Amino acid sequence: MFVVVGVTGGIAAYKAVAVVRAFVQEGHDVHVIPTPDALRFVGTATWEAISRNPVTTSVHDDVARVRHVSLGQSADLVVIAPATANSLAKMTAGLADDLLGTTLLATTAPVVVAPAMHTEMWRHPATQHNIGVLRGRGVHIVGPDDGPLTGGDSGPGRMSEPDVIVAAARDALAGAASAGDVRTDPVGGAEGDLRGLRVVVSAGGTREPIDPVRFLGNRSSGRQGVAIACAAADRGAEVILVAAHLDAEILAAASASPRVRIVRAGTAAELGLAVRDAATEADVVIMAAAVADYRVAEVSDRKLAKEQADGPEISLRLVQTEDILAQLAAGRAPGQTIVGFAAETPADGETLLERGRRKALRKGTDLLAVNRVGWTEGFEAEVNAVLLLDGRGELLAEARGDKRAVADALWDGILTLRGER
Ligand SMILES: Cc1cc2nc3c(=O)[nH]c(=O)nc-3n(C[C@H](O)[C@H](O)[C@H](O)COP(=O)(O)O)c2cc1C
Repeated sequence: MFVVVGVTGGIAAYKAVAVVRAFVQEGHDVHVIPTPDALRFVGTATWEAISRNPVTTSVHDDVARVRHVSLGQSADLVVIAPATANSLAKMTAGLADDLLGTTLLATTAPVVVAPAMHTEMWRHPATQHNIGVLRGRGVHIVGPDDGPLTGGDSGPGRMSEPDVIVAAARDALAGAASAGDVRTDPVGGAEGDLRGLRVVVSAGGTREPIDPVRFLGNRSSGRQGVAIACAAADRGAEVILVAAHLDAEILAAASASPRVRIVRAGTAAELGLAVRDAATEADVVIMAAAVADYRVAEVSDRKLAKEQADGPEISLRLVQTEDILAQLAAGRAPGQTIVGFAAETPADGETLLERGRRKALRKGTDLLAVNRVGWTEGFEAEVNAVLLLDGRGELLAEARGDKRAVADALWDGILTLRGER
């Protein structure tokens, strides 16, 4: 097999040596294309010795063989490791100012990309947007992992380990083969792996009124739900986002997408109505909103005032709200996938998995994303860590990282469940 390994200018370039070596040891014809900046980290001699093929960065070398397109045309697989923020941006824009850029435009082979950068660069909306666009074009993104970074800090941005990248490349090839060798178009097509799916996502936190000015609410920021909606849209789905109260700044990310329609809801009852209505035409419904379990039984139509109370205490009678998720699961249409989120604070002696498993069975979901919440975890945070449990409560996968990464892992799990990958 003809394998192209693109190496870009990050400190993790040294780890790409192990990726190249693994492909060579498997007997493939490996061609390394470093960017000029990558050569400041690991030099031409290393790449030529390891790959056993000549290495150049420029479209002006070996012009007789038209290398600027021939490598891309010959490739059965392209792997970019590490992929810098700069190179991801160039790939998204389709720039072709070096040999790697022209090769990427010339290939129809599966492309696997392993981003590596500091957490701030990874989380920047520009980088996240680029990742979304690339995924939408069918590019396979591996990692990044959460862990120690070069500057001594730690967080998402560390390049995945070489064996994980090689395994992802094998999966990408197997996927292309099982799809009748339909190759992805890494730069041109706007189609993604969720193309044709109609999706409903709820996000944010409901508010149950107490009186005209007060409510019972929760700390959900809506970040995870919006990330799920944006990821789906970037990957080609048509999305209805049922938005309970969430930060305007967070919602803005979804408003910007032409494939996301936003429907507003305030209380659990309103959210239930909106989701059920949208779900009638949906292939996948994801309940990521934090829906109140209880509402106030008698909502006062006048502001509760201290001077009207009999003493220093008052009581509010609460009644359970409807279980929207369980209802959706019980009434699901054939072929419809129902996904829930469970924010849990497990009791002593109980694991998150055990608690999630019980909930998955009780709710009847196809997939349940279980996360631990607390004063500093889950809600409001930029990062998340979830266990993905199938309908039998079995652990399918774990996902951690920023909320967009978790959203993409969730969609990968949904596609696997639906047998669409
Ligand atoms: C020591 C050092 C380490 C770097 N590591 C990274 C990195 O891990 N990820 C990244 O996106 N940029 C990193 N950069 C910045 C890139 O090298 C820079 O953006 C460069 O223009 C990338 O060029 P390329 O994408 O064409 O290879 C690093 C720079 C230096 C000096």
